[in-house]
Amino acid sequence: MTAITTRRFLQTAGLLFAGALLAACGKKDEAPAPSAAAPAPAASVAAAPPPAKVYVVGTDAAYAPFESQNEKGEIVGLTVDVLSAVAAKAGIEIKFVNTPWEGIFNSLQQGDRDILASSITITDERKQTMDFTNPYFDAYQLIAVKATSKVAKFDDLKKLKVGVQTGTTGDEVVTKQQGKNSTNIKRFESTPLALKELESGGVDAVVADNGVVVNYVTNNPDAKFKTVSDKAFAPEQYGFAVKKGNAELLEKLNKGLADIKADGSYDTIYAKYFGAAPAAAAPAASK
Ligand code: ARG
Repeated sequence: MTAITTRRFLQTAGLLFAGALLAACGKKDEAPAPSAAAPAPAASVAAAPPPAKVYVVGTDAAYAPFESQNEKGEIVGLTVDVLSAVAAKAGIEIKFVNTPWEGIFNSLQQGDRDILASSITITDERKQTMDFTNPYFDAYQLIAVKATSKVAKFDDLKKLKVGVQTGTTGDEVVTKQQGKNSTNIKRFESTPLALKELESGGVDAVVADNGVVVNYVTNNPDAKFKTVSDKAFAPEQYGFAVKKGNAELLEKLNKGLADIKADGSYDTIYAKYFGAAPAAAAPAASK
């Protein structure tokens, strides 16, 4: 099984853990920090936490560097780190369960998942059927093509074969451009599959989230891809989704998210994956 619990995550993510401890020292907080490093409050000996609900988190773990499986089958990535840190702040237990993108929204509706954490872009359409936390990451669509391709802008894709992951915002923009009935749009179950198809020449381009495209291009130099950006693509933001009306959980998550943004642990996670603080951070600040 490919599930990791908050606790397990905290044991392995040293950096983050240190951040959580610092935060736990700063104010009274129910972060489930083992007592090793922090001066624990006097009563801690007796403080066995009551059996808590474990919130099941659905994620399509084929989306590095946001959510993917490592060699051990554990689900890892920025989304995992962020939500785990949020959960620690919120004092809730979570468990990630690999969930195919195509069924992911349904799994929330059905109650099989309590939270979706899968680089999901907050859109007006999706907001009608689920509730989103505040954003945790900014993104935009990016085009991947062979390094030799003449494609220089989104418009150039109009008559070309384009690969997308089914039902993603990448699918939406290309569908809008080419029309619903276009036979040139090739839809794949995952973004890596679409990119593999580009490698083998089955499509001329792939449109997907920038972070994932850049990650793939960087880690697969033999594929000889390049990326093409276009201002035509609207800014997107990722949020965690909960079942519509689950205000209690939503509030906990939003509070946790605000906490990790305020105490710097969000920035630490961001830097772990992208090597620099988010654009909003002070340019001179170096750690
Ligand atoms: N951000 C895009 C969307 O919401 C793609 C997300 C795909 N995520 C994934 N884990 N496959 O449509």
